[in-house]
This record gives sequence, structure tokens and C-alpha cells, in this order.
Amino acid sequence: MVNDKDGGNSKPGKRKMSGGKSTEPARSWRQKATKDKADNTRLMDERVKTARGRKISSTLWLRRQLNDPYVKKAKAKGYRSRAAFKLIELDEKFKLLKPGAIIVDLGAAPGSWTQIALKSKPGRIVGIDILPVEPFPGAEIIEMDFMDNDAPKVLMDMLNGPADLVMSDLAANTTGHRQTDHLRTVALVEAAADFALKVLRPGGTFISKVFQGGAQLNLLNMLNHNFQTVRHAKPKASRDGSPEMYLVAKGFHGGKNCGKLNK
Ligand SMILES: C[S@@+](CC[C@H](N)C(=O)[O-])C[C@H]1O[C@@H](n2cnc3c(N)ncnc32)[C@H](O)[C@@H]1O
Repeated sequence: MVNDKDGGNSKPGKRKMSGGKSTEPARSWRQKATKDKADNTRLMDERVKTARGRKISSTLWLRRQLNDPYVKKAKAKGYRSRAAFKLIELDEKFKLLKPGAIIVDLGAAPGSWTQIALKSKPGRIVGIDILPVEPFPGAEIIEMDFMDNDAPKVLMDMLNGPADLVMSDLAANTTGHRQTDHLRTVALVEAAADFALKVLRPGGTFISKVFQGGAQLNLLNMLNHNFQTVRHAKPKASRDGSPEMYLVAKGFHGGKNCGKLNK
């Protein structure tokens, strides 16, 4: 076990310096702290790897999973992931799932949102994920990159008519490069919203995972323009400290797009 009480948070000023005067170029304490933190993380990584053959990020993830009450609850209820509880909470608050509804599930794997949606006796569920999803009776989920140019058309062909609810839990796998991750996430949310505008029937609902700090202003403007109400929500099942939130846009009335598939 790594004992890193001081972690990477101590300011360099409090560190004992070996040797005499530093020959390093002058840096702000914040730059030094960042460099020290990176060095510490590398050291910690090594120690955990040698101790257990596992990276510290995986160890922390595993520890969090094992102690997470939602993971335990999901297991007990047979849900494929803890994300199920986010949709349950959003549904309790915003009344999203209705019998007979035509639903699109974007970023469906491993499938817990589809599981919850199926309980509401929908008309149909069509979904997509870049990862395979073990099939469900009553849902058609395609394994495909949603950012592929053909993906919207493939989903629309599967739908063969307008949808009542488009729900997106899409989240890009992180590369570790902050700016790249940020841009990929924003692109996914915008693509999901664009798609919703094309397929929703009048009165339809769009919900999407978004990340705080994202370039959301354009998206919010676009949603406000096309829906009666747009709300942010952070379900309890969404981890504290995670920048994740959900946008819930209800009452689709988007002029030129509305009912396009209804013809
Ligand atoms: C948070 S998970 C979704 C969990 C899901 N709602 C559930 O309840 O099981 C996010 C999903 O988005 C998918 N994803 C990310 N980028 C994608 C893309 N470009 N095309 C399709 N799926 C993508 C990931 O593969 C992942 O399964």
C-alpha cells in the first residue's frame, strides 16, 4: 500500500532542499508544485506496479468500485452498471420514460440504461455503442462509432420514424491529454444534440451527459431555442468530484427540424 500522506500537494517551500543554491531556472511555486506532483505520481506508479503489477490508477479504480454502494446495489439488482441509478433518478425527477415510447440510447454499453428503459414497456429501443453490448430482447443496439458519418443515418433507418426520447450517456475514453479529451467530449455531446434535433417528434425529450467546464454555451443556446425547458441535473449516483452532469431538454418544438421524420 502506498503511504503518500503528503501526496503531491505540499508546496516546494516546505520541502527540505538537498545541496546548496538551486541551479534550476526561476519558476513560480505553482509550476514547481506541478512538476513535483508529476514526479511523485511517476514514483508512486512505479511502486504500485512493482508491488502488485498494477498501475495506481487501476488500483484506485478497483478500490473505489469495491467500496461504491451503487456498484453493490447494481450487482444485487442485476443491472449491468451503476449508471442505471442515474437514469432512475433522472426519470423520477423529470418523468422521462413512458409506456409505448420510442427511445434512442446513445453510448449504450454495457446496457444498464437500456435495462431501465425496458422496464417502462417502451414501444422500441434503438441504441449504439462503439463497444459491443450483450443483446436484450426488445432492444436493437448496433456496435458502431457514433462519430462515423454514417451513424445517424444507420440509426434513423433502424428507427424508421420519429423518436420520443433521445438519451445520451456518451463519454469518450480519456487519453490523458486534457485538451484532446475535452474536445472529444464536447464533440460527442454536440453530435448527440444534432441527432436529437433530427429524430425527435414534437414534444420529445433529449437528455445528455455533459461535463462542467465544457464549451456549453452554444449547446445551451441551441437547446433553449428548440425545447420548451432545459435543465441541468446532477443525480446522486453521479460521483462527487466528477465534472459530469446531465442536461434534460423537454418539449421539443424546433421549427425547421421538428417532425422531419414524421412525413
Ligand atoms: C458511461 S458509458 C455508458 C453507460 C450506459 N449508459 C449504461 O448505462 O450502461 C459511455 C459509453 O459511451 C461509449 N462511447 C464513447 N464514444 C463513443 C462513440 N464515438 N461512439 C459510440 N459509443 C461511444 C463508450 O463506449 C461507453 O460505453
